Amino acid sequence: MKLAEYIGGEHRRIEETLDALIEALHGGDATTALELFRTAWRRAEPHFQAEEQVLFPALPAGFGKLVAKMEEQHAQVREVAAELEGAGAVDFIALGRRFHALLQHHLIEEERDLIALAGRFLERPSERELIEALERYSKVNPGQSR
Ligand SMILES: [Fe+2]
Ligand SMILES: [Fe+2]
Repeated sequence: MKLAEYIGGEHRRIEETLDALIEALHGGDATTALELFRTAWRRAEPHFQAEEQVLFPALPAGFGKLVAKMEEQHAQVREVAAELEGAGAVDFIALGRRFHALLQHHLIEEERDLIALAGRFLERPSERELIEALERYSKVNPGQSR
């Protein structure tokens, strides 16, 4: 398996709930949206951690700037997620849209800029080892949804 397939698979799983979330937000259904936000975040949070602990440190030094940008985007999503946890129904729709926009943008940019490039720079054996390390990390740190 290629790194792009592995990361892409995790991103699609997060996007499934993001798509449902934006629909609920458009419909003004705050109760369903809150549940979908929680599902999306239960999937995204452990994914962020695996990237920060395993993937980013394994990339060559030249990726530093790009990695810093991805970590900054993770931080922005985390911040809105924390606000959402404490938000009342009134703020929820606007904040939920922000969460959706930030996370969706991050997934696209990460795949397009970082993962595509990383796939070209990694040697075959290290690409396979990296995927195995990500799988091991996810087994030990499954988050709450698996
Ligand atoms: Fe990420
Ligand atoms: Fe990612």
